[in-house]
Amino acid sequence: MSGLCRIAVLISGRGTNLESIIRSIETDYIKKAQIVVVVSDNRDAQGLLRAEKQGIETIVIETKDFSTKQSYEEKLIETLQKLNIDLIVLAGFMRVLSSYFVKHFKWRIMNIHPALLPAFAGLQAQRQAVDSGVRFSGCTVHFVTEKVDKGPIIIQAVVPVYVEETEDTLSQRILQYEHKIYPKAIKMYVEGKLEITGNKVKIKDERFDQNVLISPSL
Ligand code: GAR
Repeated sequence: MSGLCRIAVLISGRGTNLESIIRSIETDYIKKAQIVVVVSDNRDAQGLLRAEKQGIETIVIETKDFSTKQSYEEKLIETLQKLNIDLIVLAGFMRVLSSYFVKHFKWRIMNIHPALLPAFAGLQAQRQAVDSGVRFSGCTVHFVTEKVDKGPIIIQAVVPVYVEETEDTLSQRILQYEHKIYPKAIKMYVEGKLEITGNKVKIKDERFDQNVLISPSL
């Protein structure tokens, strides 16, 4: 990307990932990027306040104001196109985007998921991990395609799941790593380091570690 990468962050709630991305731009970890707008499908999203505090434009587009999914997405597309958005970052945006939307922004939408995809796709990923008895879970940043939670994986972090774990404790620990890998994925995108071939993402820079492994003490 030659100029400034214009980013839209889409949220539905708390917005801690949004906050970590804001910090990463502020501290110049991600250079040549700007969060132009934060869009929420929920007017009560706490993340909206975080954005407003930073002077970032916020827009609320709620599904209840639209009669169909298509008309909702048309409004979303129009809003993002008007602002010349280069990259759409889904940060806790709890809505499935259709292929109609995805086609408009091919390879320009990223998502973070609180599990090691393709395991535990869908809702309540951390609870799924705890209930299944796995020893490790984690988080994944991937490109969004029309197949939900199945797009090419950019980066993952592995987080141990302890025996006494609850959904809440695991969610909190995974979240810390979400805050590390999402800015990293965005940085690589902005710097033009991501190459997509089929369902794989190659990182064209040896300094970046694509496999962030968090080992439990043995
Ligand atoms: C994060 O844990 C994110 O991985 C998850 O929602 C949370 C949002 O937290 N996203 C999904 O489950 C998407 N399927 P935040 O609002 O504090 O960033």
